[in-house]
Amino acid sequence: MLRFLTAGESHGPALTAIIEGFPAGVPLEKRFIDAQLKRRQSSFGRGGRMKIEQDEVEILSGVRKGLSLGSPITLMIRNRDWENWHDVMSADAGEINPEREAEKKVTRPRPGHADLAGALKYRHMDLRNVLERASARETAARVAVGTVARILLEQLGCIIFGHVVQIGAIACGAAGAGREEYAGIAEFARTSPVACADREKAGEMIREIERAQEAGDTLGGVFEVVCLGLPPGLGSHVHWDRRLDACLAAALMSIPSVKGVEIGLGFRGAGMAGSEYHDPVYYEKNRGFYRPTNHAGGIEGGMTNGEPIVLRVAVKPIPTLRKPLPSVDFFTKEKVKAAVERSDVCVVPAAAVVAEAVTAWVLADAVLEKFGNDTLDEIRLRWWEYLAYLEKV
Ligand SMILES: Cc1cc2nc3c(=O)[nH]c(=O)nc-3n(C[C@H](O)[C@H](O)[C@H](O)COP(=O)(O)O)c2cc1C
Repeated sequence: MLRFLTAGESHGPALTAIIEGFPAGVPLEKRFIDAQLKRRQSSFGRGGRMKIEQDEVEILSGVRKGLSLGSPITLMIRNRDWENWHDVMSADAGEINPEREAEKKVTRPRPGHADLAGALKYRHMDLRNVLERASARETAARVAVGTVARILLEQLGCIIFGHVVQIGAIACGAAGAGREEYAGIAEFARTSPVACADREKAGEMIREIERAQEAGDTLGGVFEVVCLGLPPGLGSHVHWDRRLDACLAAALMSIPSVKGVEIGLGFRGAGMAGSEYHDPVYYEKNRGFYRPTNHAGGIEGGMTNGEPIVLRVAVKPIPTLRKPLPSVDFFTKEKVKAAVERSDVCVVPAAAVVAEAVTAWVLADAVLEKFGNDTLDEIRLRWWEYLAYLEKV
């Protein structure tokens, strides 16, 4: 129902995205999107590029007087670094400076990046043609797109937030908390430079990132994304490709450097007995059906079950190392050290912001599938009617 496409190279003029299938009447303001772009950019562990880029969205279509029109929404984020790169990256061959092009040519593939496989796939003679698009700069466009979806969910009273639970070997526990505890985690994580709700561990995580930076190394980690306020019955048990758990896992795995997604207890549940793992069903007159535990992470049978959605995501240490690993020159086949681009040290907090955005996208799509997608007012009416049904069922 909802679709989007992003385009743009990391050092090209801009990133763009087109969203289609978004309802009319949703308040969309540039400042909401800019606030999320800033969170992605300013988290602890990002590199020098972030000081150049101060991402700002331009809304080119689909919105009038602060309200969505129902027509395709075009978003654009200019790359401020473009002025330093147009003589290398221009679409017009006449504008390319051959000396600068040669200087910026990449021939030493980085282990763990798309450089080598992408160059072989497209028969490129400059690995830059791969890394310009494989770069996670693209995720700025996805944060912009996901914020549009997030705004729709917020209009219906849903909240999405991410928080970091591990950086390198420093971990804190947080899974399985109730709604009130989650509100506290969200509040605290917002104020922490590494988005971790545990003050003591956050300090250790910062020191761990600083150590990695000094050593010319990088770090991965784990974060959680939580969504509160969704009713049961979003997603589907009837077709594999409409299962909400499958759609969420695919969206999260599509974030560069994400290597694992768990829903609820995930892998930790595999060692438990069914009698311990499953969340018993309870009922109270004013509360409806509910669960005292949330090991399922809010999803059963590919559908929301009304409990908080809890997703846990593993991020690998990023591939560009200041002290690079062994590689082989693409042309000469000589043993070399891998290329070094200006780079981040730890992207776990930034990836959590991207993950909130892609989660919002998938959940908004599931909401529109159930409640229609023409206007916000219609969606609200159907939403309330469904909530009323849930209260009296
Ligand atoms: C927000 C964000 C920023 C990233 N920044 C860098 C970076 O500066 N240097 C780098 O080598 N990888 C960075 N990555 C990871 C690479 O983009 C990723 O490892 C690469 O595209 C290969 O994809 P894969 O790790 O999914 O296999 C970043 C990832 C994210 C989510």
